Amino acid sequence: MKVLFKNEAIPLIKRLYHDYIRHYIGLIFAVIGLLLILSASTSLQPLLLQQAFDKVFKEKDITYLTLMPIAIILICTVQAVASYYSALLMNKFGSGLIADMRKDLYRHIIDNEIEFYSSHDSGNLLSRVTNEIIGISNATQVFFNAWARQAITSAGLIVVMLYQSVELTLISLSALAIAFYPVMRITKRLKKLVRQSSEQNAKFNARLLESFEGIRVIKAFAKEDFEINKVGQYIIDIKAISNKIISVSSLTPTLMQLLAGIAVAFVIWYGGYQLIHDRMTEGKLIAFITSLLMVSKPIRSLTNAGTIMTAGLVNAERFYSILDLHSKYASRHEGAKLQVDSGAIAFQDVFFEYPNGTKALRGVSFTMEAGKKTALVGHSGSGKSTIFNLLLKFYQTKSGVILIDNQDIKEASIHSVRGHIALVSQEIFIFDDTASNNIGYGREGATQEEIIEAAKAAKCHDFIMNMPSGYDTKLGFFGQNLSGGQKQRIAIARAFLRNAPILLLDEATSALDPKTEMEIQGSLEKLTQGRTTIIIAHRLSTVMKASKMIMMDGGTVKAMGTHEELLANAPAYRDLFGI
Ligand SMILES: Nc1ncnc2c1ncn2[C@@H]1O[C@H](COP(=O)(O)OP(=O)(O)O)[C@@H](O)[C@H]1O
Ligand SMILES: [Mg+2]
Repeated sequence: MKVLFKNEAIPLIKRLYHDYIRHYIGLIFAVIGLLLILSASTSLQPLLLQQAFDKVFKEKDITYLTLMPIAIILICTVQAVASYYSALLMNKFGSGLIADMRKDLYRHIIDNEIEFYSSHDSGNLLSRVTNEIIGISNATQVFFNAWARQAITSAGLIVVMLYQSVELTLISLSALAIAFYPVMRITKRLKKLVRQSSEQNAKFNARLLESFEGIRVIKAFAKEDFEINKVGQYIIDIKAISNKIISVSSLTPTLMQLLAGIAVAFVIWYGGYQLIHDRMTEGKLIAFITSLLMVSKPIRSLTNAGTIMTAGLVNAERFYSILDLHSKYASRHEGAKLQVDSGAIAFQDVFFEYPNGTKALRGVSFTMEAGKKTALVGHSGSGKSTIFNLLLKFYQTKSGVILIDNQDIKEASIHSVRGHIALVSQEIFIFDDTASNNIGYGREGATQEEIIEAAKAAKCHDFIMNMPSGYDTKLGFFGQNLSGGQKQRIAIARAFLRNAPILLLDEATSALDPKTEMEIQGSLEKLTQGRTTIIIAHRLSTVMKASKMIMMDGGTVKAMGTHEELLANAPAYRDLFGI
């Protein structure tokens, strides 16, 4: 057991105490109080047995004959009540702890910037918020249960044993002390296995999530068996590790049981010898053996608790490893408030590379006039979406300056920058929620009328009304019930609702058929009215109306100007559109 409280465990436990456990200290003391009562009444049992044996069975004392059953019933009642309430309060503490840690961890995870998510897969995060936090709570409960209840119970029983015979007590306890070194070794091995198991579980979660998200691809390519095999391998690996954990962790109680057996055998031999030579009463010996048998149970559960506590420590380590990343990736609410008047945008010699090292922008400079439409064109991979990512402060530039209305966005808070921008992107996420709430995502506190108005403007209204419950229809897990074009129109409706001065359209109409695109062209036109709009599109007809074209190529600006100017002066522009 001791090994748990050495080295890295102590700061971790201190931290857990300070951050979470501390808030339940009243509850914990109440539990400990109840456990004390429980332990005391448990330790009284062998004493009662001694009295029953010596006074009633041997001396045939009538007063004791009536007193003993009453005392036993009384003690059992106290024990039952204390046991019930201690379990109740302990659970309250445990579930409170889970809730507190989940809230914290989830807030920290969600608050992280995009970069964080490229290095942490969702399965890994999921298993931390779910099972691993439960592991920490279990360990904490076991800690108090084990140390308050079992340790106190054992201490009580040992006192009873000492009272019967100091000699026998010392001999039997030294038998248990032999277990110390092997238990230490077992704990070390266990820690390693638990860590492996956590990692394996996280990978398993990741695969599950991925296969549910990609269910259409799996079905379309008839890859069910392939996925079943892949997930099956994780299931088998997890089973193997969990079997190993059981086989290792069961060694400790087994060892303790064996040693306890040896101690009892020795006590019967040595105590019997004392009894025969009249140095001990039968009652004393019976009480001693009963105490010894009883003490082996809490000692065994103390060692069992060691397993759960070891697992909990590993989980706590993983919990804090995510929490501690927060400061590195935290979205900075602090920073200047961006004052956006008309929404003029300027890039000045911007260099940028993604965390994986891809150099996406190499010295990009341009200006975009306020309230006008600018089109970003260029082959895929040329850096168009990256410009949006930087404007939204998803990432930081490596060098160079990005200005919105002459303010460096580096100095501005992330939230105030994003508050002035509406994005309709290539990838549209539909929440498993009602149509109304999906559109309402565009602006907090939007009324139903405003939502319907936005839906009408984005040409969503008709198809939404045709759904079984209109605006209250659930759009399904990941928007499975919508076509690509419908999803894009929902995204456009969100942008209408957002009503931001800067509008970013990243292939916003690419999933629409020409007829639908024509239909919503009018509403898009209305949406872009008076806003600084940047359009990324591959269709010439969509970008032609922009007052300025910026042609990107390999992370640099290849050409700039109006459609006519580029047509006349930039052969690459003509090539791009095949004209
Ligand atoms: N999240 C990312 N992590 C790493 N590299 C990326 C990421 N997104 C884009 N890239 C890379 O950056 C370059 C520019 O990409 P992008 O701006 O998306 O191009 P476009 O939108 O013009 O098609 C490409 O080489 C692309 O592979
Ligand atoms: Mg793109």
